[in-house]
Amino acid sequence: MATVLAIETSCDETAAAIVKNRQVCSSAVASQIKIHQQYGGVVPEVASRSHVEMVNGAIAQSLSEANLTWSEIDGIAATCAPGLVGALLVGLTAAKTLAIVHQKPFLGIHHLEGHIYASYLSEPDLHPPFLCLLVSGGHTSLIHVKNCGNYEILGQTRDDAAGEAFDKVARLLKLGYPGGPIIDKLAQIGNPKAFSLPEGKISLPTGGYHPYDSSFSGLKTAVLHLVQKLQKENDDLPVKDIAASFQETVAKSLTKRAIACALDCGLNTIAIGGGVAANSGLRQHLQKAANAHNLRVLFPPLKYCTDNAAMIACAAAEHLELGHTSPLTLGAHSRMPITDVMDLYPTFRRYLSCVNRG
Ligand code: KG4
Ligand code: ZN
Repeated sequence: MATVLAIETSCDETAAAIVKNRQVCSSAVASQIKIHQQYGGVVPEVASRSHVEMVNGAIAQSLSEANLTWSEIDGIAATCAPGLVGALLVGLTAAKTLAIVHQKPFLGIHHLEGHIYASYLSEPDLHPPFLCLLVSGGHTSLIHVKNCGNYEILGQTRDDAAGEAFDKVARLLKLGYPGGPIIDKLAQIGNPKAFSLPEGKISLPTGGYHPYDSSFSGLKTAVLHLVQKLQKENDDLPVKDIAASFQETVAKSLTKRAIACALDCGLNTIAIGGGVAANSGLRQHLQKAANAHNLRVLFPPLKYCTDNAAMIACAAAEHLELGHTSPLTLGAHSRMPITDVMDLYPTFRRYLSCVNRG
């Protein structure tokens, strides 16, 4: 297996890591959370500038912690989509420069494919097909992982992502940013049955509800109305109980859809990825339901759930093994469906069509 150095700068973490054989040799993550906290969310221009300041340090740290030299690195990768374009360009430019200087293959990596690959870091023997429940700040999807680069989206949110809902509810409860970890902590000491909140459902034109698609914007509005009502009645808001009731509703909604999807599609492993995979309520509900249905559920270690470069390096190592490389003209894309991942390796596409033509 290839040894790859990868850089991740799609949002507010500046990260660099080296992965060999699905084994993490080093993983450096410099969080910008403290910088963005004063604004209550990520400010794209501030994020780009911070990445510029921190990226060289993260790369140097990843090399020294791995105790490797450039001659032992087979390829250099960076997240190129989706994300904040200015932020992505910093990591992408650093990776391309290193690839030119050290004459190594360069690979652009899709951020969500990286979140899928986080599961391989703790389960190196994991093999597709399996179902990935991907729950991050910007995405909530159920993805059929068929092979490296071959994905089918079976379900997704129609509005807010799960992580976005955590962040928005935390903001309206005045808890700070990022909201997920704060709500999670409070929920553990609150009563999840204190308030009944609505689970977002997607109606089908033919009647009934979509079994795998989700919605979280109505839930966020229901929490807002609950807070307004309670504030009129009471001086002290029962924040812990609201957090616990909200978290329980999200965890149940995601669990129900993931289990139904796995059973319907005959997939007996569910790998979970993205920042919300760190959520204790979701972990408990999903594990319990998976046990009841004899399904295997994989949770990456917390440090590989939120953004990191080890997951990007892990995906890149497998692509490189398969002969996939990206041109140095590859750009950054704010949006890109995971089903288009193979567009990042156009030379390989051309090679394949030549082979197929015989
Ligand atoms: O995957 P990630 O680090 O970045 C994106 O690709 O979006 O996910 C960040 C999201 C944020 O919305 C954050 O609030 C949420 O993950 N998050 C959590 C927890 N830890 C992070 N949500 C719920 N519970 C947590 N423990
Ligand atoms: Zn992410």
